[in-house]
Amino acid sequence: HLNIMEKSELNNNHINSSFQREKWFGHEFLYEFHGFWFTKTYLETTQKVLENFKPHPKDVILASFPKTGTTWLKALLHSITHRYDTKDENSLTFNHPQELIPSLETNLYVQEIPQNNTNSQEFISTKNPQKSRILATHIPYQIFGGVLNSSDCKVVYVTRNPKDTLISLWHFLRKSKNFEQDPWELGAAVDQFCKGIVPFGSYYDHVLAYREESLKRPQKVHFVTYEELKENPKNCVEKMGEFLGCPFEGENREEEIEEIVKICSFEKLSNQEVNKSSELPKVFPLPYNSFYRKGQVGDHMNYLEDEMIEKIDNITREKFHGIGFMY
Ligand code: A3P
Repeated sequence: HLNIMEKSELNNNHINSSFQREKWFGHEFLYEFHGFWFTKTYLETTQKVLENFKPHPKDVILASFPKTGTTWLKALLHSITHRYDTKDENSLTFNHPQELIPSLETNLYVQEIPQNNTNSQEFISTKNPQKSRILATHIPYQIFGGVLNSSDCKVVYVTRNPKDTLISLWHFLRKSKNFEQDPWELGAAVDQFCKGIVPFGSYYDHVLAYREESLKRPQKVHFVTYEELKENPKNCVEKMGEFLGCPFEGENREEEIEEIVKICSFEKLSNQEVNKSSELPKVFPLPYNSFYRKGQVGDHMNYLEDEMIEKIDNITREKFHGIGFMY
C-alpha cells in the first residue's frame, strides 16, 4: 500500500514521462492531452471527469474557454432556471456564482473523490438521474463530446473575442502566488496563446468545435458570445430561456427578463460582499474577487502593442473567418 505522498510522486513521474510538456509560468508546465494543453492538476481532474462523470438527461452543462464570461453565464443560467423558486430569491446575494454552479474539473473533481464533501457529492451523485443540475466545464468538445452526447443534457457555450480573453487570463494569473518569481510576460503570453499553449487551449480549436456542434444541433448546443451579451443582454436571456425549455411568457415577461439582466450585471454582482471577498475558496487557489475585474469589451487595447494585435488577428482570420465566424 502506498501512502498519499508516494502515490502523488508516482503520479507525477507518470505525467512527466507520458505527456509532452511545455514550460509556462510560475515554474509550471502545461501538458498535452489529446491535442490540448492542461496544467498538471487539471490534466488529472479532467481524466477523473472523463472516467466518472455521467450527465443526467435534464442537466445543463455550461462549457467555455477560461475567461470568456463563465462567471456571468453561471449567474444567468442559475437565475433563468430558478426564477420561480421562492426559496432561491437571494442566492446570488449570498453565494459566489462559482460556488452556486460548480465546475467539474476545477472544483468538483479536484479533491480526492469527495466522500467527505456532501455539497460536491450532491452535485455529482448519480442517485437521482431526474434531477436537473447546472455544471460548468472548460474541457474541449473534442475530448468531452462523447460524455456530453451520452445523455440528452443541454450545453450552453459562451465565448469571447480572443484578445480580451487573453488579457483577462493574463490579469487573472498575475494574481497567483508564483507569478512574481517567474512571470508570464505579455509577449510570451501572446506567443503561447497563438500556438494554443494555454490551459484548455488552443482557444481557437476549443471555440470551433462547440461552434460547429451548435450549428449542427442547435437543440443540443446553444452558442452565445460575451459581446452579444453586452450589446443585447435581454435578447440573449430570452433566447436562453427558450433553449432551456423555460421560455419567458405571459404579461410579465419583459420585467422578468429585465430583472435577471439586472441582478447578473457586472455592476451588481461585483459589488456583492461575497464577490468582493479576498478569501480563498475551498478548492481554488485564487480569491473570490479575482473573477471580477473590468467586465468590458475591448480592454485589450490598453495592453497589447500593435504587433501583438496583428499577430493574434492573423491567427484569428486564419482560424475563424473561413467558417464565417468573426472576431
Ligand atoms: P475581465 O478580466 O475582462 O474584466 P470567467 O468568468 O470566464 O473567468 O471570465 C472572467 C471575465 O468576465 C472577467 O473579464 C470578468 O470581469 C468578467 N465578468 C465577470 N462577471 C461578469 C458579469 N456579470 N458581467 C460581465 N462581465 C463579467
